[in-house]
Amino acid sequence: MAFLHIVGARPNFVKAAPVVAALDRRGIAQQVLHTGQHYDERMSAVFFRDLGLPRPDADLGVGSGSHAQQTAALMTGLEREFTERSPETVIVYGDVNSTVAAALTAAKLGIGVAHVEAGLRSFDRTMPEEVNRVVTDRLSDVCLATSADAVAHLADEGVPADRIHLVGNPMIDTLTANLDRFDAEGLRVRHGLPASYVAATLHRPANVDDPDTVARLVAAVHGVADRIDVVMPVHPRGRAAFDAAGLGGHPRVHLLEPLGYIDFVALVRGAAAVVTDSGGVQEETTILGVPCLTLRPNTERPVTITHGTNRLVSREEFAELPALVAKAASGEPVNGAPAGAVPPLWDGAAGERIADVLSPAQGR
Ligand code: UD1
Ligand code: UDP
Repeated sequence: MAFLHIVGARPNFVKAAPVVAALDRRGIAQQVLHTGQHYDERMSAVFFRDLGLPRPDADLGVGSGSHAQQTAALMTGLEREFTERSPETVIVYGDVNSTVAAALTAAKLGIGVAHVEAGLRSFDRTMPEEVNRVVTDRLSDVCLATSADAVAHLADEGVPADRIHLVGNPMIDTLTANLDRFDAEGLRVRHGLPASYVAATLHRPANVDDPDTVARLVAAVHGVADRIDVVMPVHPRGRAAFDAAGLGGHPRVHLLEPLGYIDFVALVRGAAAVVTDSGGVQEETTILGVPCLTLRPNTERPVTITHGTNRLVSREEFAELPALVAKAASGEPVNGAPAGAVPPLWDGAAGERIADVLSPAQGR
């Protein structure tokens, strides 16, 4: 078999869908392996249905655990699968533990590694994702980058130029391919949501794991909700902490279970502004033109600020969030980027360019 795609967590599914589809159009032998890092129906199965992804050829069912436990379980299961299935190349996505575990396991077995979304850097090693990004890129034979800054980081780190390919952003392929399906009004009616609202989603360890930070965030979100309703599908990582801190206690805060992809992007599309710490949501809001306030001190996706609708909000600014959201929701620009700018190659054709790189001899 030529290619084995490794997916495990929510953002992986969104990135893999257009690559699987592009290779499929070329009739190339491929399989999809789900690690089971995310396993709730709303964190996993709904994405396969929404995105028309093929049923995984294997599911390792590794589940949750500490970083070492989860990574060890991933590597043990992946080693068995790689040995049995003998792929020529494994394709890994993004920066989750499934990504780095697959890259490391494949590299040790002498199997090629292609990394989709290579080269992004926050330069913040307190983020587990940054560690995963650096290690994965170091081990990758093919680095597929979404933006020019990512290419520059890889070059700075000594990755040879012939391993680096600027291909654009497959997450945006998925977005543009599904634009007709994002029905904000239908979603609003189904969930009994108000006409005007801010969408929020938070799950980074730096925001949701520490009770003091959670309390400050809840105060900030309640401050936003004093002015405009807040709709928040809650990632399982933060659920208990947000419940304990009384997030749902404000009458204009509407907590939902995690939404499937089509419903979530519909929610974002209909929002006056978005409050997030997600990586992918910074990119999707940029293309949808929805103002995005990212509750982080840094981003590995700077084009969403220079070419998009994103603005960082540091911990010290959490108390100012209600005012920042009110301004953004009233149409005031959140950054100095030209209105309507789109990062280069975020055009819906990244999957095809990735297929071109991975199998140049077998064009469309
Ligand atoms: C992971 C990624 C993160 C990514 C996020 C996308 C790592 C290190 N982190 O974070 O980069 O932004 O996915 O959503 O890989 N849980 C459930 N059900 C599930 C999955 C998780 O209840 O289906 C809960 C468990 O309590 C688990 C916790 O969420 O311990 C964290 O899950 P984990 O996969 O370790 O990391 P995420 O925070 O989801
Ligand atoms: N997403 C979703 N439902 C939600 C929240 C997010 O479908 O309730 C989608 C979102 O549109 C994006 C992806 O999940 O396509 C991003 O995943 P996440 O924020 O979990 O991870 P990150 O991008 O931060 O790694």
